[in-house]
Amino acid sequence: MKHGPFILVGLLLASASSWCGMVLAPLVQWRDLQPEKDEGTATYYPSRRSGLAEQGSEVYRAMGCFHCHTQIIRGRGLGMDLEKGLGTRRSVAIDFLYDHTVMPGETRLGPDLANFGVRSRKAGDTNGALARRSILVKLFDPRSVNSASIMPSYAHLFEVRKISRTPSPEALVLSPGAGAQSGFEVVPKPEAIALAAYLTSLDSQKSVFVAPVPKPVKKGGEKGTNASPSVVVETHSAPPK
Ligand code: HEC
Repeated sequence: MKHGPFILVGLLLASASSWCGMVLAPLVQWRDLQPEKDEGTATYYPSRRSGLAEQGSEVYRAMGCFHCHTQIIRGRGLGMDLEKGLGTRRSVAIDFLYDHTVMPGETRLGPDLANFGVRSRKAGDTNGALARRSILVKLFDPRSVNSASIMPSYAHLFEVRKISRTPSPEALVLSPGAGAQSGFEVVPKPEAIALAAYLTSLDSQKSVFVAPVPKPVKKGGEKGTNASPSVVVETHSAPPK
């Protein structure tokens, strides 16, 4: 055991260097991170999520959605996320500023959700109510929306109950065969409502200093922009499954 002290010092040095690299360095780099002001609109990015969406992020974590969904857009050259229209720019640290639990995700079995809130909202759905309703249907029965889906059903976040006098305004409108038997309705529990609010809040498209969104390419290749013609500027279309 005459090498014992050397082994001990070696182990301490190995632990100290990984602590410095993985805890201290990010802390020093990002501890002063502040929301960024958009001078044009006098708004700050990011803004805090609503209390309901905040609760929804806890449901997202508890349900393990991050096992199959990422929330991170890779930059050009590191993947095809921008080309696929998953976002307008790569993800950066400021996007996660107000997240209590940062959930970049483990694997991408389902589409990336970093900007799901933006693409879930169709024209005319100003307060996102339609988006939230369609998300609830997806959570209750993913295969009623996409018959080939491998996403598990989260039916335990819903209550199937007997219709008393009139159906509840909260009840899901499901395709025939997907709902409960006649005389019963499917109503989201508070966890499902919070989760839908969280999903519709996901939006990291705003241009920021370290990752500016390229300006739209003007038709006819006009001067005044140096963006590459192949740059995807903004698209809200659903990503390829
Ligand atoms: C076993 C993997 C898996 C898990 C776990 C999972 N999903 Fe999915 N999800 C998928 C797949 C695959 C798709 C794409 C196919 C489809 O539309 O169903 C998808 C699609 C989606 C979509 C539609 C995305 C889009 O761009 O159209 C949403 C929203 C979604 N999932 C939310 C969730 C939430 C919230 C949870 C946790 C409560 C969750 N998923 C858990 C695999 C999963």
